[in-house]
This record gives sequence, structure tokens and C-alpha cells, in this order.
Amino acid sequence: EAHFADDIEAILALKKERNAVILAHNYQTPEIFHGVSDIRGDSLALAREAENTAASVIVMAGVHFMAETAKLMNMDKTVLIPDEAAGCSLAESITAADVRALKAAHPGVPVVTYVNSSVAVKAETDICCTSGNARRVVESLGVPEVIMIPDEFLAQNIQNETGIRMITWPGHCEVHERFTPGEIRQYRRLHPGVTVLAHPECPPDVVAEADYAGSTAGMIDYVRRSGAGKVLLVTECSMSDNLAVMHPEVAFVRPCNLCPHMKRITLASIRKSLETMGAEVTIPPEIAARARQAVARMLAV
Ligand code: 13P
Ligand code: SF4
Repeated sequence: EAHFADDIEAILALKKERNAVILAHNYQTPEIFHGVSDIRGDSLALAREAENTAASVIVMAGVHFMAETAKLMNMDKTVLIPDEAAGCSLAESITAADVRALKAAHPGVPVVTYVNSSVAVKAETDICCTSGNARRVVESLGVPEVIMIPDEFLAQNIQNETGIRMITWPGHCEVHERFTPGEIRQYRRLHPGVTVLAHPECPPDVVAEADYAGSTAGMIDYVRRSGAGKVLLVTECSMSDNLAVMHPEVAFVRPCNLCPHMKRITLASIRKSLETMGAEVTIPPEIAARARQAVARMLAV
């Protein structure tokens, strides 16, 4: 489309001028994901790539906690978020004071924090995880009980997989909490033979209806490996749009739950971000050191 072409051309030129890379989460719209991004992936891949890039500027086409994680791994680089209001219901559900209270109530129990959290919360915790490595991270601790925050459903899903007891926090993803088991059963009736893939931020009774549960990258791999012809992705709906571009042979059944935070990032806001070099993500150094340790421990697992 013409209005996309103009912004895409401008963004590609600005990237060169600024020595910038654009990291795009799997929930970004196709014109961003396929049109201007250099690195694409789930939260784990974006955190890893942020650690490796040679560019001097990183633009996060994703939400604020992802930009903070990229900054943590690159304190000497400029990290930009095209819209500072791109938050996350999980990150907003808990404060550093809440974590200190949980630790006081459960002394000696390790705290595993989902990356969908603020740096202040990460700084209070032992190790981070993403949906792509949650099981490995939790099992690596070798203990019967952990505090797993802030996603209650992710914690319950990992408890079901591992048998490790979870002390949880009532945070939810506003996109994934809306799916219901009845809805999944109805899609199966309407689309016989459909392969159902669910994100572990969904309630456990929804995950129980799925053929597979995993991170956004895990779902993409599953589609590739399984050769499934008809797929229902129980997650944010831009995922299906992006995958449909890569896999025209697969029919995607499309419920549409959009993340309003992810959708704040647009070609126009990315272009403006590169033009003005804003908004720059900053992290107080004393918080950064402790939060980085929790992320680095996760990356080492
Ligand atoms: P992943 O891409 O790591 O699975 O995360 C999903 C998500 O909701 C990120 O906001
Ligand atoms: Fe947060 Fe859910 Fe949006 Fe991801 S999809 S950014 S977890 S609200």
C-alpha cells in the first residue's frame, strides 16, 4: 500500500543514517514485521539478539519491558521505544514492594520472574524466565517450591508440567486471559482436524484443550515441524498474519484478540522515533546491575 511504502522507504534510510537495528516481536503487524525489522522473534530471542547486535541504536518494535531488557543488556547503546505508553498488563500488575513482601512471607524460596515485568521488579528477583524457557529455568533451580511472578496462569501451567509447587501472583495477560475452553471446543467442532496451539499465558483449562503450548517462537516452530494444514493460534492475532505470509499453504483459523499495547507501535511511530531519537529508555544504574544479573542468569540456563 502506498502509505506504507513511503514510511518504509524513510525508515530504511533512517536506519542506515543512525546505524540502527529494529527488533520486532512476533505480535507486530506484518508491515513492521516483514517490512522494516532486522530481527524478529519471541521475548527470549529479542533479549538474546539485543545482547549481540553491533548497531549503536536499537529500536524496539514491541512493548516497554522488552525495550528495558534490551537496554539492560546494552547500557552503552541508545535504546528507543516508539511509544512509551506501550505497556503490558502483566508488568503493571506488580511492584518491587510487592516482591519484597512476598519474599518476607516465604523466606528462602527462590523468586522466578517472567520478563513481562519492570526492571525494578526484576532487580528484586533471583532469575528471570520467558515462556520459551520457563520450564528449564524452574527445573534448573532443583527445589520443590518457587515463587513465580507475575503471571498466575504461566505459573500454574508450569506447575502442571513440572510438579514443582508455585507460589503465584494474580497477574494476567489481558489478551490471553480472555480465551475460554468452550471457545476452543467450538472451533474444533467448526473446523474438524484443526491443530490448536496455545500460549502458556492462557488459563490452564484453555491450555488443556490445546495440542501444544509454548512461546510464540515455539508455536512458529511447531507449525513448521508438524506440517499441519489447518491451525488455530490461541494468542495475539498478528501472529497468524505474520505466519500466513511465511506459510501460504497453511489455513489459519482466526479468532482475533489484539494487544492494545503492541498495536501502539506503527510505521509512523517508528519513523518518528528514528527522526527524533525518542523516546530513549533509561534505567538507574543501581537497579540495572541487579536486574541484569537476573536476566543474565536466565540466559545462562
Ligand atoms: P513470547 O513471544 O516470549 O512468547 O511472549 C508473548 C507475549 O505475550 C509477549 O508480550
Ligand atoms: Fe503484555 Fe499480553 Fe500484550 Fe504481551 S500480549 S504485551 S503479555 S498484555
